[in-house]
Amino acid sequence: MKRKVLLMGASGSGKTSMRSLIFSNNPASLTARLGATIDVEQNHVRFLGDLILNLWDCGGQDSFMDSYLTTQRGTIFKQVGVMIYVFDVESRELGKDLEYFKNCIAGLNAYSPDAAVFLLIHKMDLVRERDQVFQKKKEELEDACGDINVTVLGTSIYDESLYKAWSNIVHTLIPNASILSKHLSTFSKACGATEVILFERTTFLVIATSRSAGASPSSSASDLEDLGDGTRLDPKRYERTSELIKGFKHSCLRVREEFRSLEMELYDFTAVLDEMTRNTYVMIIVHDPTIETAALKLNIKMARKKFE
Ligand code: GTP
Repeated sequence: MKRKVLLMGASGSGKTSMRSLIFSNNPASLTARLGATIDVEQNHVRFLGDLILNLWDCGGQDSFMDSYLTTQRGTIFKQVGVMIYVFDVESRELGKDLEYFKNCIAGLNAYSPDAAVFLLIHKMDLVRERDQVFQKKKEELEDACGDINVTVLGTSIYDESLYKAWSNIVHTLIPNASILSKHLSTFSKACGATEVILFERTTFLVIATSRSAGASPSSSASDLEDLGDGTRLDPKRYERTSELIKGFKHSCLRVREEFRSLEMELYDFTAVLDEMTRNTYVMIIVHDPTIETAALKLNIKMARKKFE
């Protein structure tokens, strides 16, 4: 199954940078070397076995944008599954950005009216009053969208917010995400786990968790999530794990080693991260000190067939 993902926004807003971090495992520090994208750069990314993401990174210089909206309109906007529109939080040309954006929305409405739309307010690391700035920009963009249903997220390549946004995005493209969550919660109970998280293998984006149908449940930024039994968890734990493991995988490559699996036994919890299927990794978090990591690994081995 192939799903088309349009990545659009002004030149320099950060589209190619985020693509290279998420899909090519490059560190944020290397993005400064990226040149401007000429016209459209198309990529096919195999995601979860039979789902193929057809990524269209559309160079944002005015001449290219004008051509997408006129001569290439049909080609660009047809059969789109998701459109991601990136806004540089520090853009000095918000008026022009919004004009292009509205035109793109009109193109999408004409050729792919069912497409999901994500607006990323990007480079959030550059602003100080992050929450306030985000809220203000979000309102501005929602006003410009009128009746169209959009999801607005704040992102930066320098922290975990990029992983949270992209986990949300790919979640809308996975056909059986809620079934996966159900299987994960059965598996979690069998392991006596606090929770179980399924990651896509190359991107390390969150596919499903045992505790919710969503890829990463939205919760207020800084409050700990209370599980009701005294266990309190960080609401950013999923995207932080994605970011840390991606960084760790990159370090492994630098010393010519391949990342395989991870086991951690800490004071109050145990974590096991191991291959689940050819395309996924699973992480099991256990707060019961009597449960051995070997038992968790055996459970993963036995559950593999069910998740293939
Ligand atoms: P076109 O290809 O011309 O459409 O541009 P683009 O949207 O692909 O921009 P690109 O990814 O090339 O990024 C432009 C610059 O923004 C690079 O120097 C990146 O390092 C920088 N950049 C990207 N994301 C971030 C971010 O989250 N924060 C900061 N501070 N800089 C970023």
